[in-house]
Amino acid sequence: MKTLVKNFIGGKWVGCHSGRTFESRDPATGEVVGRCVDSGPEDIDEAVKAAAVAFEAWRRVPAPRRGEILFRVAERLMRDKETMARTVTREMGKVLMEGKGDVQEAIDMAYYMAGEGRRQFGQVVPSELPDKSAHCVREPVGVVGLITPWNFPIAIPAWKAFPALILGNTVVLKPSPETPVTAALFVQALEDYGIPPGVVNLVLGSNPELGESLVRHPAVSLISFTGSTVTGGKVAVEAAAGHKRVALEMGGKNAVLVMEDADLDLAVDGITWSAFGTTGQRCTACSRLIMHKDVKDRLTHMLLARMGKLSVGNGLKPGTDIGPLVNRAQLERVHGYVQAGQKEGARLLTGGKALSDGEHAKGHFYAPTLFDHVSPTMKIAKEEIFGPVLGMIEVKDLEEAIAVNNNVEYGLSTSLYTRDINRAQRAMRDIRTAIVYINAGTIGSEVHLPFGGMRRTGNGHREAGQAALDTFSEWKTVYVDYSGRLQRAQIDKE
Ligand code: UN1
Repeated sequence: MKTLVKNFIGGKWVGCHSGRTFESRDPATGEVVGRCVDSGPEDIDEAVKAAAVAFEAWRRVPAPRRGEILFRVAERLMRDKETMARTVTREMGKVLMEGKGDVQEAIDMAYYMAGEGRRQFGQVVPSELPDKSAHCVREPVGVVGLITPWNFPIAIPAWKAFPALILGNTVVLKPSPETPVTAALFVQALEDYGIPPGVVNLVLGSNPELGESLVRHPAVSLISFTGSTVTGGKVAVEAAAGHKRVALEMGGKNAVLVMEDADLDLAVDGITWSAFGTTGQRCTACSRLIMHKDVKDRLTHMLLARMGKLSVGNGLKPGTDIGPLVNRAQLERVHGYVQAGQKEGARLLTGGKALSDGEHAKGHFYAPTLFDHVSPTMKIAKEEIFGPVLGMIEVKDLEEAIAVNNNVEYGLSTSLYTRDINRAQRAMRDIRTAIVYINAGTIGSEVHLPFGGMRRTGNGHREAGQAALDTFSEWKTVYVDYSGRLQRAQIDKE
């Protein structure tokens, strides 16, 4: 993109106050994908003010009409799926097939939330007093600030923006500085298909304090954040100080559990997809393989064979399985974990190094990595790595597998491979993560079901599904007394 990528505020594409710019680069080639405005707090302020002005009219637009706009947005995203997916791949590196999946997740969410325009069910219940009615309805919260990561640069803004919009909120989106061009394409789709000025605003910038000024802004009522647990913690503290609502989606330390009765071919498919898909850069990615001792040798052998066939390269090239890591810092971080694993006594079976030969020379590529002899107390078994690194932990039975699985700070996604229905039922009951898969990997949530995590993964909110409506709305309870006299609840019982 040769032209400058700008902010979108009050229905106009505008420059930023500082006049500074920053570049977004392709992690596979180092090429510049776009040059973007590098905003500051003044730009955030303008965007929030525009959203606050637009809120008064938008909240009164009948929800089915808001839904019609989202239906059109879904169609527009569908039309441009290929182009958008290519931008996703160029900006953050995931392979094209996954880039298309990213856009598809936004399309699915647009259709799903568009339908909520004609639902958003409240409750009508009897009053305890005669000649009195009682009902409750959802109300928008106001201006919502969305802080989104680079790993799902279309899907996650969509997960947040579409439920917010259908409920009548207005939005200020602050995307990751790794994926500003993708974010601009997303907002463009909303603009083209009828979102009124000020209802959705976009502020681009590379300064880490940009998000902070959004969280601090007094006219922002709710912050929805997806990113690291460290940053999420800071957002929570800041939001609490300003008495704001805050919904957090943070890290994961997800595991695949494989029992001795499992279909191992199927398990290898699921493990490979969950651990190395998106180069391990999903919050749902699997970084622990907890397996029954009786299948360990066979499974290790099968997994190594499969990993040997994975092709690492530019995600735009057909046949590539694994793209680059998003940037140099992330590559160093991942490598730091690999070194920590070795230092703590885990055995490196394959990978464990950056790739820089031939087609890899200009990108941030890392070899798919497998560790054996991992114990649950090691750093690589406890902390989120966000890269293509998998550690194998041996256990003696399902109970131990579940105990090891649950004994981490995060609680997002777990998968169990077994053919035994009784074991599967027990696992569904005892696994302490908010997403559980039986005979499928740890990734691949669907938009009409709640998404999120327990413990340090979240703060009790969920995205997607009906649960997203709870995040982006307030309940308003309305009593109408048509008796014409004073009636006292709890007191006038006879
Ligand atoms: C994320 O990594 O932040 O279930 C989201 C999945 C995707 C969403 C991942 N649908 O892996």
